[in-house]
Amino acid sequence: MIELTSLEGSREVYQAALDFAQRQVRATAERDPGFYPMYTEQGRWRHGKAAWTHWCDGFLPGMMWIFAKRTGDPEWAELAEGYTTPLEHRKIDRNVHDLGFIFLSTYHRWHALTGRTDLDQIVVQAGRTLALRFKEKGEYMSSFMGPESLFIDIMANVGIIFYAALKTGDEGLIDVAMKHSLTTRRVLIRGDGSSSHEGIYDLDTGEFLRQSTQQGWRSDSCWARGLAWAIYGFTSAYKLVRDPRFLQTAELCSDYFLEHVPPSGVTPMDFDSPSAERRDESSASAITAAALLRLAKLTPDRAKGILYDQAARRVLLTLAQPPYLASGTPGWEGILKEGIYHLNLGLGVGESVMWGEYFFVEALDRALGPAAPS
Ligand code: GLY
Repeated sequence: MIELTSLEGSREVYQAALDFAQRQVRATAERDPGFYPMYTEQGRWRHGKAAWTHWCDGFLPGMMWIFAKRTGDPEWAELAEGYTTPLEHRKIDRNVHDLGFIFLSTYHRWHALTGRTDLDQIVVQAGRTLALRFKEKGEYMSSFMGPESLFIDIMANVGIIFYAALKTGDEGLIDVAMKHSLTTRRVLIRGDGSSSHEGIYDLDTGEFLRQSTQQGWRSDSCWARGLAWAIYGFTSAYKLVRDPRFLQTAELCSDYFLEHVPPSGVTPMDFDSPSAERRDESSASAITAAALLRLAKLTPDRAKGILYDQAARRVLLTLAQPPYLASGTPGWEGILKEGIYHLNLGLGVGESVMWGEYFFVEALDRALGPAAPS
């Protein structure tokens, strides 16, 4: 269970971590201009190991857009733009289920800074493309693994379809996003608030067959990053359409997290893995902290709101210092250590992972609130 400790002095810790993050991102861009890293190998972003799937390109520029917003420094905006424009062609990419990750972190943030409608149209197009993954039989969007596969990860992307629907008034889009979210809630979220990574369907009948996993410990276990995607996704869905079922699910999953996470707030890779096999997975905690800070403001339950806010800040206080913050490890190129991409494939284990970096920066930005005008 999470241990809520005094947060005195935490703002300074968060600010120092955010300053460190800026230095690491700048150094990455200078060392290897135009490269979109995914996970480190012994602390180095450039290596020849596999990607598994092509889903992370928005996260580096996404951090740059957050820095641009916070600092008002035109150099950050220029750098962010340089990494964002090469991603536009992905707005019609039908090979991945991750278009929310790619476009909400980049074009959406760019649009928020400038108000340019052409940028918003790109986000809307990406939402329309993602919706094409919808299967009428079964009422879900399929993962990149195949048409029979539903991933919890998609819940963290479906916000781009809700967004596109609200922008355009397209009822077909809202229907897809609602059905996918409610299916995910029904088949991947368990009664105790834990989540399954994957669901498998019969394509002929649309019948849900079983829970499964790619990155978790077992089919019936709770992969920590999957739970983080659930908390993040249902919170975002609730923020956009205010369906109380999404709030209830976000809270149920959050309560599972708070009850099962170790006192420090850093999750194991899977909440059910045997203790001898347990390894920290910092990115799940960073994603959850970002989501809890948002959920704290949305829930009408005041006591829960305070709990989620304090818990998120506690998680961040742990992550914002060594051994999780890489500031104590000379030569380490990432920001946050001890993430895990894919233990079962041996990819990025005990490393920095680009989504961990991005959601850590997003959470720090939320925890610090608007930057003082310079
Ligand atoms: N497949 C996305 C993730 O590793 O969370």
